[in-house]
Amino acid sequence: MLGALRQTYRVPGAGALIRSAYARRTPHLPVRAMGLQLRNPLGLAAGLDKNANCIGPLTDFGFGFLELGTVTPHAQPGNPRKRMFRLSAHEAIINRMGFNSIGLDAFIANLARVRRTCPLGINIGKNRDTPGEHALDDYLHGLRAAYPFADYITVNISSPNTPGLRALQERDTLAVLLAALKSEQEILARAHARYVPLAIKIAPDLADAEIDAIARLLLEHNIDAVVATNTTISRPQLEDAPLSREGGGLSGRPLRPLATHVIRELHRGVAGRIPIIGVGGISDADDAWEKILAGADLLQIYTALIYRGPIVVRNIVSGIRARLVALGVETFAQARAAHAHPPGASGHSATAG
Ligand SMILES: Cc1cc2nc3c(=O)[nH]c(=O)nc-3n(C[C@H](O)[C@H](O)[C@H](O)COP(=O)(O)O)c2cc1C
Repeated sequence: MLGALRQTYRVPGAGALIRSAYARRTPHLPVRAMGLQLRNPLGLAAGLDKNANCIGPLTDFGFGFLELGTVTPHAQPGNPRKRMFRLSAHEAIINRMGFNSIGLDAFIANLARVRRTCPLGINIGKNRDTPGEHALDDYLHGLRAAYPFADYITVNISSPNTPGLRALQERDTLAVLLAALKSEQEILARAHARYVPLAIKIAPDLADAEIDAIARLLLEHNIDAVVATNTTISRPQLEDAPLSREGGGLSGRPLRPLATHVIRELHRGVAGRIPIIGVGGISDADDAWEKILAGADLLQIYTALIYRGPIVVRNIVSGIRARLVALGVETFAQARAAHAHPPGASGHSATAG
């Protein structure tokens, strides 16, 4: 898909055409989160533009922000093919890409070349052959290299396809990781005279107690945002799909309830004090609204873009806008409050018999 897009953009005028078909028709729905001003709350999730070489076209789809990567310090090929499987009947994908990456140097060179008109997150990971006890070095390497070029940086500790990665979500390990990343962020903020927010991306395969422990740590370490969630290693609602036995992470429709549950639990845990980027199985405005009511402040999609095409961006943003207008509110927090306490549900208005 990215190859075809890049080809299309070689034709003069193609960009303008795509922009007018998608970005220009996506309603303005400005939001502020992580200190960033975004034209709308819907972003592209990490993993599609892993090498930062399709920024222009993806911007023209109308996204409010793009998350690039995951990029690893050194180039690596990822897992052998076949490593991505479409479960079309379920609008789902199973992937075990395993962080195929051109590495930070080439990634940054790509990024430095483009004219940017859309806020960019950079999602950083660790190389497969870096031992777990040196994972922090890889993340610090990524943080330093990405910092001058990013509007925010996501630390990916939740891909199921790099052995041992998810263990970084365990409380004691995570505490060490967050403390080190946060103190490096302070040093970089001073050096570059610019504060770049730091987000942590977590898995959907966590027990409630683990989510609560993560929420506490995020608060304790003043982390700027949390991306929930990555793909799942479980296979919900896929009993009839033979491909469901393929190893890897599942995304798309069947992931939706799991991801929403994590967002709800996290929102409770952080008490609205850390923005949540909600991702996992959003295909339309109803799905997006479910995430917003559960506690999401921003949203991302990946799989729905594959199945439904770029029109899905406009459809979701206009649907969210229509719901806000219908409720007579402007922010997602107000929407949640209005939902929790609908007018006339004060408890006094009901008169029995
Ligand atoms: C083929 C594929 C590759 C992905 N690669 C990454 C990645 O490199 N880093 C990452 O943080 N998430 C990656 N993801 C996860 C997505 O960013 C997202 O969290 C997940 O797919 C759930 O969203 P969705 O249901 O809208 O697709 C990938 C997903 C897919 C389908």
